[in-house]
Amino acid sequence: MCGIVGYIGTRQAAPILLDGLSKLEYRGYDSAGVCVFSDAGFQIEKTKGRLAALCELTQDGASLKGTLGIGHTRWATHGAPSHENSHPHLSSNGKICVVHNGIIENYLLLKEYLLAQGKTFVSDTDTEVAANLLEYYYEMEGDLLRAARRAVEKLSGSYALGILCADRPDTMLAVKKDSPLIFGFGKGENFIASDVPAILRYTREVVYLNDGDMVEFTANDAKFYNTLGEVVQKTPEHITWEMSAAEKGGYPHFMMKEIHEQPKALRDTINPRIKNGRVVLDDIKLTPEYLRGIRRIYIVACGSAYYVGCLGKYILEKTCRIPVEPILASEFRYSQPVLGDDTLVIIISQSGETADTLAALREANNLGARTLAIVNVVGSAISKAAHDVIYTWAGPEIAVATTKAYSTQLSVLYLLAMYIGDALGTLPGAEYNAMCKALLQLPDRIEEILTKENLAHIEALAEEFKGHHDVFFIGRNLDSATCLEGSLKLKEIAYVHSEAYAAGELKHGPISLIEDNTLVIAVSCVPELFEKTMSNVKEVKARGANVLGLTTANYEHEITKTVDRYLLVPQTHPLLQPSLNVVPLQIFSYYVALARGCDVDKPRNLAKSVTVE
Ligand code: AGP
Repeated sequence: MCGIVGYIGTRQAAPILLDGLSKLEYRGYDSAGVCVFSDAGFQIEKTKGRLAALCELTQDGASLKGTLGIGHTRWATHGAPSHENSHPHLSSNGKICVVHNGIIENYLLLKEYLLAQGKTFVSDTDTEVAANLLEYYYEMEGDLLRAARRAVEKLSGSYALGILCADRPDTMLAVKKDSPLIFGFGKGENFIASDVPAILRYTREVVYLNDGDMVEFTANDAKFYNTLGEVVQKTPEHITWEMSAAEKGGYPHFMMKEIHEQPKALRDTINPRIKNGRVVLDDIKLTPEYLRGIRRIYIVACGSAYYVGCLGKYILEKTCRIPVEPILASEFRYSQPVLGDDTLVIIISQSGETADTLAALREANNLGARTLAIVNVVGSAISKAAHDVIYTWAGPEIAVATTKAYSTQLSVLYLLAMYIGDALGTLPGAEYNAMCKALLQLPDRIEEILTKENLAHIEALAEEFKGHHDVFFIGRNLDSATCLEGSLKLKEIAYVHSEAYAAGELKHGPISLIEDNTLVIAVSCVPELFEKTMSNVKEVKARGANVLGLTTANYEHEITKTVDRYLLVPQTHPLLQPSLNVVPLQIFSYYVALARGCDVDKPRNLAKSVTVE
């Protein structure tokens, strides 16, 4: 959500800003803009729509001359996507120029006050309030740093701000709270950005700013301040991953690339944590004494990460015999959860920046629970706020629809389940060994799904079913949780309305929606429930449904008796089976989206990293 890039150096700023913004497109946006500062003052170009339109407007940046500037992609919150609401925003007298990611919650109150002080507004945004508030304090203080400090004291909500001042043509200021911002050290040039890919072409030395951090910088110098206004030293972190990790690498879309990266991502996440047949989680500090005292586990997350949590309920309850409750982060925070030191709260997030999840994590910390985060982005806000962190080593995930992050999150839950189950003595040795073996083999099994023949078969099915407008996913037990993810994928990238239901629940209401030719996707990979799910399939078939079944290869003969079309996956340990089942569903949604002409990697209205509540 919203992307920020800032540059000061000796090169022309605009092409660098546009290039950086293109690497942040994955975050989701509906307008874009840049401001470059030169002797002519601030030159701003912005437009509704895709970045390509801004590139055209500025001749790829050539029309904006100057070596200092800020750029922004906006995901609309306050006010429609429009030229007026696009960033950068100027203050009333045109001296302060601002880009912003986040939401200023008290903007109406501040706007009223600033209007009374004679400040003027041309947009509906909360950001323009920040620009005018900065101007207001700048006029009072005569010093940009002091003005910025006083202004942010008045802001509630979340923000990452890039700030320029017409009186300081060689300087930029940046500050953040609850929205991501990094600082990049160059040679004779410096950068800010919402995420590493935006500046990786120019520097690998970055600082992940903490909440409350402010940085004042020129091309050759950077001064960091903490919340108290004290100067602090920051040691840059060296980014080791290659730019190619954030490029398509020959695939037509990031999503397809990331689907294919799942075996590697799983190997990277699992293998270093299994030594001599034992799960070793050096990353966390949960002692056997602590684990014995846990009475309840909450799994808190949003979207697909929450659906991993839904699988986690079955997996952890089976292996650890502790009640597990998956709960949406946006609900958890305001539900007055009953937490204490006997509650473990597992937080799952790819980006580590999701506002709802971060807020829920803080709430859990405040209420005295122990928090353990499963996160993909190193140094992200969630990874910093949790008591313990286990990283998923999925690498950068660019497509809005998660695939490899989901799979690695699930693999971490297996590791955790085995770790806790072993410590509590609730997971028998033979079962532990079987899970361990299956876990190490998961990447190979996924490779078996990603063959050319399978992809072609799934593509043909997608072509056959692309015209359906209402789809039902049904399954039982672990399969019902897989259905949630399968259904979300189809909704988010192919814009097909779909529902996921526990197969046994259909007859309690939703079956009334089944009519001639309704597509039902039946996931039936839990061996002891195969017959039961097939009974539910027969119920929908009796009402005219067209059924696409998904089962394990050893049930091929059985499933052909009931469904119209089917997909097969290799069989693995029953608890690990969902890791394989989800893959054909990801591919199916991908091909349906393609067949329907959708923008697979950047679906409408969605953002990769949802940094507002
Ligand atoms: C998944 O395909 C979605 N784009 C979305 O549901 C996502 O999983 C959710 O927003 C959570 O994001 P996070 O993992 O970065 O916290």
